[in-house]
Amino acid sequence: MRYSDLCRRISGEGAEAWQTHSAGIRDRQHGKTVYMLSVGDPDFDTPASVVEEAVSGLRSGDTHYTEITGRPELCAAIANRMNTRTGSSYTLANVSLTVGCQNALYCSAAALLEPGDEAIVFDPTYVTYGAALGATGAIAVSVPCPSDNGFRPDLRALRAAVTPKTKVIFLVTPVNPTGVVYNREELQCIADLAIEHDLWVVSDEVYAELVFEGECLSIACFEGMKERTITISSLSKSHAMTGWRVGWAVGPEEFCRHMSNLALCMTYGLPGFIQSAALNALNDDGSDTRQICETFKRRRDLVVKELAGLNRVSCEVPQAGMFIMLNVENTGLSSAEFVRRLYSEQAVTSIDGKAFGNSADNCVRLAFTIGEDQLLEACSRIRSFVHDIETSA
Ligand SMILES: Cc1ncc(COP(=O)(O)O)c(C=O)c1O
Repeated sequence: MRYSDLCRRISGEGAEAWQTHSAGIRDRQHGKTVYMLSVGDPDFDTPASVVEEAVSGLRSGDTHYTEITGRPELCAAIANRMNTRTGSSYTLANVSLTVGCQNALYCSAAALLEPGDEAIVFDPTYVTYGAALGATGAIAVSVPCPSDNGFRPDLRALRAAVTPKTKVIFLVTPVNPTGVVYNREELQCIADLAIEHDLWVVSDEVYAELVFEGECLSIACFEGMKERTITISSLSKSHAMTGWRVGWAVGPEEFCRHMSNLALCMTYGLPGFIQSAALNALNDDGSDTRQICETFKRRRDLVVKELAGLNRVSCEVPQAGMFIMLNVENTGLSSAEFVRRLYSEQAVTSIDGKAFGNSADNCVRLAFTIGEDQLLEACSRIRSFVHDIETSA
């Protein structure tokens, strides 16, 4: 039987990167002790009051269809949160509720791109971008963020990447996998280009509340950018709610009307009890998110300290998020080989940086989404692994 070309465009690459992770899950189910440094899922419980809100919603029968793009009070709370963080002035009419940030990304791409368009993405970037943009038939044009430049974007390459076919710049800040937070100069450069060439910017700020030093600026607040920026995010990382699938896109009202049509044919809205729980999360006093952020910062410091002083690997200190990139170039192993052997010899899972783009070739992504005792043991195993490579070289 024949399938659509879309199926081809969204398949393939990326799957291999998860092989070690999948092996880790499988082996753990069979009783093996595994140190999982491969997944960006916060290991904390969703705040108790959020869970209670969902349970009480279920018990009270909040189990029917809901407003397609989100209940007004929830959309207003999302606008409010964005305004508080960034000083912008959005209203509920600027908000579309989505099934996590991933769905916000897919829908934004579908709303803005068509076959033949070019979309700029920074390399390395989160693995699902290739398929989400590819689904539209647009061509993804990569702008390198080289490891020897601290994974910061090459702004000259960015300017050179814009062509008459460019329609959207997809930006992730803070970046998964590198933990880089775009600075004012970098964002201004993107904003200037977007205005000069009449481009959209989709800004994925799913880690914006997990910044360790400084702040995450929102490009939507730069002059002339509000009408051409879609900011996407979710509760997945800020509230340890990856499994609840609550996210959003904030942008111009006309964009939200298109998102409404997409939701109509794609999701038909999110469950009411989930929306009540999300509202509870958004109306909190911020202490849960602060605690999550402080914990990740402590773990980041721990990993940096534990892996410092190794001869053959090095890392950039991430400014945000839950990942650190280990440069393994001097081990003599490819990043894929490093990932495979680190697992088979030390039972530590990680992800090959190449899955995120060519600029992260020779790097391995480690997630610090496990408790500190386990993380210490995982670091000790990485040290042993690197020492073994050194002595056998
Ligand atoms: C940069 C980035 N964007 C989007 C997502 C998807 O997030 P969500 O769970 O809200 O769909 C992730 C998940 O790891 C991510 O790292």
